[in-house]
Amino acid sequence: MQPQMHYATWAEVDLGAIAGNVRFFRKTTQRAVMAVVKANAYGHGAAPVARAALEAGASWLAVARAGEALELREAGLAAPILILGYTSPARWMELIRAGVSLTVWSEAQIVEMAAAGRQAGKPAHLHLKVDTGMSRLGTKPEQAPLLAEKIRKLEGVLFEGIFTHFARADEADPAPTDAQSTRFRKVVEALEHAGMRPPWVHASNSAGTLRRPEAWYDLVRVGIAMYGLEPSRACPLPETIRPALAWKSSLAMVKTLPPGRGISYGHVYTTTRDERIGTIPVGYADGFRRIEGNVVLVRGRRVPVIGRVTMDQIMVQLDGVPEAQVGDVVVLIGRQQEECISAEEVAERWGTINYEVTSGLAARVPRLYIGP
Ligand SMILES: Cc1ncc(COP(=O)(O)O)c(C=O)c1O
Repeated sequence: MQPQMHYATWAEVDLGAIAGNVRFFRKTTQRAVMAVVKANAYGHGAAPVARAALEAGASWLAVARAGEALELREAGLAAPILILGYTSPARWMELIRAGVSLTVWSEAQIVEMAAAGRQAGKPAHLHLKVDTGMSRLGTKPEQAPLLAEKIRKLEGVLFEGIFTHFARADEADPAPTDAQSTRFRKVVEALEHAGMRPPWVHASNSAGTLRRPEAWYDLVRVGIAMYGLEPSRACPLPETIRPALAWKSSLAMVKTLPPGRGISYGHVYTTTRDERIGTIPVGYADGFRRIEGNVVLVRGRRVPVIGRVTMDQIMVQLDGVPEAQVGDVVVLIGRQQEECISAEEVAERWGTINYEVTSGLAARVPRLYIGP
């Protein structure tokens, strides 16, 4: 099938790349891999990515919301799933019944979850979150052993894991992560000393997985790097890691306009001579940011987006590609012939990070899966 015959704009997700990236982290860490598939797998499509990751050797899935966990269960995925953050109490019972592991950081939560677990007739599997320096969620390190003890004592809850999250593992300076890593290690040692170490101790996100072997513990939580995207410019990926996502559209109309024609809303661009202008059916409602200076690929060449990005369409200046014609595939992210526009390049143009670029791909953009 030629996608341009069916869709105005679409994303191609290479599940072979996801699988290869998971295998890389399995092999290099020799640890269990938790595939972080929250936010619709960073825009790549939760269930297909999760399935590919599990088939490639991942043993856990991680999400951010109750709905995301249940969507994976409904897709038939039986692997362990952890909700990494807050879950509203109204959802606990259904999640416990679905065998979804939950994150806790306070005594009140533990007590209430134990009640929910008893009512569900199945213990709630809990991971205790320790705040070692992200200052987002988590108990104070010095309180962690007391909470661990509480979980172990109560009927209706099971102490499955303990974890922390790095705030700056992707940066050049190792000192902040050293400090977090040391704080967490002390907690883990205290638990070991007291005979309370749970089966799953974890700390590393992608950057930690790439750089901090001492923080690999029992499993690594790999998100951005599983998609073949770098955690930051200061934390590049090994060459074997491949990006999984390409974002494409096609030329819907090509025309030559005389000098003096204003293009798109506000006429912020006006032709200065006869100019070939292409119209592409992708816009800000697809997740293509409404800023100046966007660039796309046509026939393997970079062409500038001109005039304002509209909700569903953009215009490009095609003078550099005289042979361009209606139906040509346009690449917004990805490779075309010798040229490539990475999610990182787009992120820099948009003043953001690659995470936001792919997770901002709108639901109306169909995801097409290639590879195993
Ligand atoms: C708690 C937690 N662990 C792991 C990850 C994965 O991070 P990354 O995508 O940088 O690998 C995230 C993502 O934000 C997270 O919130």
